[in-house]
Amino acid sequence: MDKLIIRGGNRLSGTIPISGAKNAALTLIPCALLTEEPLTLRNLPRLADIDGFQHLMTQFGVSTEIHGKRPEEFGRVVTFEASRLTSSIAPYDLVRKMRASILVLGPLLARAGEATVSMPGGCAIGNRPIDLHLKALEAFGAQIELTQGYVKAMQPDGGLPGGDFDFPVVSVGATENALMAAVLANDTCRLFNAAREPEIVDLCNLLVAMGAEIEGIGTSDITIHPVKRLHGATYRVMPDRIEAGSYACAAAITGGDVRLEGARADEMQATTRALQSMGVHVEEDAKGMQITTNGSLKPIDLTTAPYPGLATDMQAQLMSLLCKAEGKSVLKETIFENRFMHVPELSRMGADIATEGRTAIVTGPVDLTGAEVMATDLRASMSLVIAALAAEGETQVRRIYHLDRGYERLEEKLQLVGADIERVGDD
Ligand code: UD1
Repeated sequence: MDKLIIRGGNRLSGTIPISGAKNAALTLIPCALLTEEPLTLRNLPRLADIDGFQHLMTQFGVSTEIHGKRPEEFGRVVTFEASRLTSSIAPYDLVRKMRASILVLGPLLARAGEATVSMPGGCAIGNRPIDLHLKALEAFGAQIELTQGYVKAMQPDGGLPGGDFDFPVVSVGATENALMAAVLANDTCRLFNAAREPEIVDLCNLLVAMGAEIEGIGTSDITIHPVKRLHGATYRVMPDRIEAGSYACAAAITGGDVRLEGARADEMQATTRALQSMGVHVEEDAKGMQITTNGSLKPIDLTTAPYPGLATDMQAQLMSLLCKAEGKSVLKETIFENRFMHVPELSRMGADIATEGRTAIVTGPVDLTGAEVMATDLRASMSLVIAALAAEGETQVRRIYHLDRGYERLEEKLQLVGADIERVGDD
């Protein structure tokens, strides 16, 4: 297994191209199940999770064609064609490797009339139940059975009747599944307290491009009007706001000056506000953002929340940056119950972080030092890379398959701006 070797201390300077958003791509790909016509997605990031999802799609008889495989390019164009579904079963072996597989439940139900999907099980950052996914589908008239670790969803004869669902908790995944099930229902479906994340807007925009009729896009009350069928489309995946935010933290922790080409500042305002409150200079234009830092960083208090609040996916990376701020910062994690697993590893690099329940108190500034570290999830791994860029000496980050799930060619992008980072085979 590969590891990353990072020798900290280089000031990052230059341009990093921002890739297509992983979390958007993982909900756009299953939309191919909703039509017999081809769906072409542009700007798909080259990531292990995307490859895994493409593989999952073949399970249902979907053909995938990758265009323009020039290895030096970031992103790629892939056409998915589900002219005939050969199965509506997502087996345990495929689902357990990737939680996002649950997102096939809604579209398979809508197109095939039934879907059997293995339950994803627990995961490193908390229990992550799927009850709201199932309740939303039930509210639209689906029958749900749970047997032997599988969810079986069925629509009544003649199709999904439609209905209303009010989410008791904002859920990104459940909103996505509900939307993909609702678009082919017989009657209107309404979602209240739906998630408003930019990735949900991206999903709605694709569904509209495929012929769906959706009102309230980008708000928490979404109405989906019935249409008989959806057609194919060509669609460009939105830029990855979490990748952009991560590189902004990397630039800031090195006192750097980095352009994030393709980042959309309006979709990551909570992150840019946090950076600005710390004293990081953020300049936005139509094609990207410039991150510049000079002087010391100020401590701040942050609380993760559903969009437009601060993304839970940015918590770990900002925590690394706050280790360099002058004073105490308080970070509250409200989305997941167990998302501070980077703290012990950051502490091994010299961080001063105390946790109590879902609150972390970061005291800075500290001199970070290189160490051998590993993390248990994607964003936690990135927080270690960010800390390593500012640490004295060499850091070895192990288990980088987490990073390969979500950051397209991380080491190449960081090398572009002058980081001393290399990928080597683990011994
Ligand atoms: C969440 C994040 C998303 C992030 C992703 C990966 C939020 C609102 N969502 O999305 O931004 O990209 O993790 O880190 O920040 N819940 C239930 N029952 C369900 C579904 C969810 O109780 O059926 C709860 C969860 O336990 C959690 C909250 O709802 O406390 C939000 O979860 P949800 O948005 O569904 O998680 P993801 O879709 O994985």
